[in-house]
Formats: sequence, C-alpha cells, structure tokens
Amino acid sequence: MCAMEKIIVLDFGGQYNQLIARRVRQFKVYSEILAFNHDLSVLSDPDVKGIIFTGGPNSVYAEGSPTIDKKIFEIGKPILGICYGAQLMAHLLGGEVGTAEKGEYGPVGLHINGKSDIFESVNKELSVFMSHRDQVNKLPEGFTRTASTDTCPNAAFSNEAKHLYAVQFHPEVTHTEQGLKMLENFVLNVCGAKQEWDSSYFVNKKIKEIKEKVGDHKVICALSGGVDSAVTAALLEKSLGDQVICYFIDHGLMRKNEGDEVEAVFGEKSRFKLHFNRLNKGDLFLGRLAGVNEPEKKRKIIGKTFIDCFGEALKDVANGAYLAQGTIYPDRVESGLGASATIKSHHNVGGLPKDLPFIGLVEPLDELFKDEVREVGYYLGLPASLVERQPFPGPGLATRIVGEVTPEKVRIVQEADYIFREEIAKSGIKPAQYFAALSNMKSVGVKGDERSYDYSVVLRAVDTDDFMTAKPTKIPYEVLTLVADRIVNEVRGVNRVLFDFTTKPPATIELE
Ligand code: XMP
Repeated sequence: MCAMEKIIVLDFGGQYNQLIARRVRQFKVYSEILAFNHDLSVLSDPDVKGIIFTGGPNSVYAEGSPTIDKKIFEIGKPILGICYGAQLMAHLLGGEVGTAEKGEYGPVGLHINGKSDIFESVNKELSVFMSHRDQVNKLPEGFTRTASTDTCPNAAFSNEAKHLYAVQFHPEVTHTEQGLKMLENFVLNVCGAKQEWDSSYFVNKKIKEIKEKVGDHKVICALSGGVDSAVTAALLEKSLGDQVICYFIDHGLMRKNEGDEVEAVFGEKSRFKLHFNRLNKGDLFLGRLAGVNEPEKKRKIIGKTFIDCFGEALKDVANGAYLAQGTIYPDRVESGLGASATIKSHHNVGGLPKDLPFIGLVEPLDELFKDEVREVGYYLGLPASLVERQPFPGPGLATRIVGEVTPEKVRIVQEADYIFREEIAKSGIKPAQYFAALSNMKSVGVKGDERSYDYSVVLRAVDTDDFMTAKPTKIPYEVLTLVADRIVNEVRGVNRVLFDFTTKPPATIELE
C-alpha cells in the first residue's frame, strides 16, 4: 500500500467493484481494492480514510458466503455498504436480512425520507439502479432508515453518529441519478480524504512496481499503435529505459498510413529512446487468411500468427524476457471476469495465451479505464493525435471485411475509411468510434454509362462510453452524402455506400 490517504474498496464479489474504485479516483482520491478477508490491521492504517463494502452475488445468511470480522465496525473508519455490502453490515450488527417477495432489477424510484450525510444536496425523489432479491427487513440497533422504494422499505439506512452508511442500490453506476454526488459526499465530506491522486502519482507508483518486478531483465513491449499499448510503452521507457524492446507487428490490416504513423511516434527518429522494431508481416497474415470466410476462424488465425511473431522476437533475447501489454480493465472483463458468453474471441495482444515462453507479464494499466489511460498518456507527453485515437481492434481490418480478407478488399477499406475519417474530422463531429467496412456484397450499378458490379462499403459511427452498448451517431445528411460521393468516385471497386443504423446490441460495433 502506498503512503497516501485512501479509500479501501472491500471486494465481496460484485461486478462493479472496479467502477467504485474508479469513481473514487474521479474525486482525485486514491482507492485500492482489497479482498474481503484482508487483515484488519491493514484497514486500521491511519491513511485509510474510509471503507466501501461492494455488492456481491451471495446471500449473507448462506453458508460460506463472504464475510468480515465484526471488529471492523469498531476501528473508527467511516464505512459505506453497497447492495450485498449493505446487507452484510445489517446482518453483522444484528439486523435481519431475508429474501424479498419481489426482487428489484434495473431503474427504481427512490424516496429519500431521512437525513443522511451521504444524501446532502441530493434530490428527495430519484431513480436508482437496483439489482437484488435479498433485502434488509429489520435494521440493527442505532440505525435509522434514510430511503425507501415501493418494494424495499430499507433501501438506505445509517448510523450517522458512527459514520456507517448502507445503500441497497448502486450509486456507482451512471443509471443512478446523483449517485456520484452520494459517493462524493461519502469520500470527501464524511471521510474527509485528501484529493492527492493524479497521473503523476500513478506514474511514480507504477515505475516503482515495474522496476521491482522486472529487475535487470529485458521487456518485450507489444505495440499496436493504439492508446493503451502506447501509454504502456511510454511508462516502460520511464521505468526501465534501455531494457525495453518494442515490437510493432504490422499485420497489413492497419488503417491507411497507420503503420508509418506508429513508426514516426516510436521509431528511431522519435523522442522515445526505446528499441523499436517494426515487423512487416502483412504477407504472412494475408497468406494465412486466404480462402478463410468464417469470422471466428479468421480471428483465431490472426491470434496464432501474432503468437508466432512474438515467439520469433523472443529468440533475439538472451536469458528470457517479460512481455508487456497494454491490457486495461475493460479487456479483463471481456476476457472472463464477466459471465457472458463468447461473442467474439477478442484478440489484441491482451489475448495472448499465458504459456508463451516469457518470464512473466507486465500490465501496468490493468486497473484503469480508457479515459484514465488517456490522462496518463498526456501526463507522459504523448501527442494528442495518439492519445485521442479511437479504439482499433487487434485483428485490425479483418473485423471490418466481411468474409475472406484479400489485398484488394484491404485496399478498398483503407481508402474508404481514410475518406470517412477526413470528412468526419472536417465536420467537427466526434463519434466514439467510426470507420468504413466492407460488406461482402456486390451489386449492380452504373458508372459512366457502363454497368458495374462492385462492392458496397458500410459506414459505421457510434456513440458510446463503455463500448459494451452503443448507439449510431447522428451524422448530418450532407456529411454522409459527401462521403458516399467521394468514396464511389475515388475508390476503385465500390459502387454503393451504406450507413449502419444499428445499435449494439443487437449488432456489435465491428462487423465480424
Ligand atoms: P464489438 O465489435 O465487440 O467491439 O462490439 C467492441 C469494441 O471492442 C473493439 N474490438 C476489439 N478490440 N481486439 C481488440 O483489441 C479485438 O479482437 C476486438 N474486437 C472488437 C471494437 O473495435 C470496439 O471498440
């Protein structure tokens, strides 16, 4: 633990735990997630200004469900219990928790009917996000009810004198109105935590951790040119300097000019003093993709080819090396913390199997969300053109070409995408992600009095914060028609341009 005032998030298995920590950091207060059974002496540290119990999938009265020593309520720290955490607080202090007749899932109307420090400057009626079946039926002694819903009488309760607060709903998700304000009230007003956390602190902490972990070994840093791996590389440079060898594997499925742009930022002439290697492997990737139509098969081939290329890179390093990757927190959710089915086997380098012959992994950004990574990127002096870059999938344009990937299709997508990006930049619209893709459809058109039989380009632009759900961006008709005109005129092999109006779900953002 670092010497800085902090809020500890005690993990009882809920799905929003990282989000809670992220919210606390949003107030510039350091936050650390610890397992629920962590030693109380650690929690008693004077730097711990408050504790948050997270939600979790269990019932507090079930055998073996996660719990904590009751003495935690005696160490004098303010505690906020959320969902399971609220029920646990009630249970341990002598209240009663049971299964409700009706569960509450999703947005629910909350009536604030008691005074609480955490509801300071919060409206009396609001919509909150609930996800529970159990509820607190009887409050422990010394607690009063502070909010209810129509089916959950004790939706919030507290012992204000002891600074113990409990909410059945989730203030950390954006669906809860003024949830951020409630957390801010807890962190800044009740706990009085100092706002000392910023990128400089994060960077210094990580430099120390990286040095300790890696020692004198070399680190191979997988660079894709995206924000996450670029920030990872910059952080490694600051931590280890000469020990870092970056590999940028150009799989020939990058956007137009992108390979050269990555090289310009990190290569020999850049301000970074990293060993930078660009492996041009377009022929290898495209060769292996020839004749393959099925999306999952394409992804698997690309993943395997990445591994082969990194294996090749490792041969140059005596005494082994660590592998550094730009994995960020949402990548970890997608690769298995969540309970969802495999929609797509995500393959960035973050998807590399762990049995690769590396000494270990270095993933310094794995607790951060995208916007936090961007802040760190700016702090490390990366240019806005890189830091603000929209996400680009590891398998590159293969996810934007329906069916078989061929050099001709790659050329078409690159050129069409370039035009789309140029016009979006001019228009001032800022979708979270936007690109041109190639449908596998050919249709009849007429070009210069002649029949044509060419491909259709699909334009996709979406607004989203988390990339888990997305809405199509409202792009003015004039911009769309200008892009369509330019594409059919300037890109050989295209006679039709379509706009994808679908939300995610049911569609995904990429086409494959
Ligand atoms: P989908 O298409 O699943 O995309 O709605 C959600 C976000 O993830 C990106 N994406 C990937 N990123 N490796 C990555 O690094 C992948 O295999 C991959 N597939 C999709 C996509 O660009 C969008 O931002």
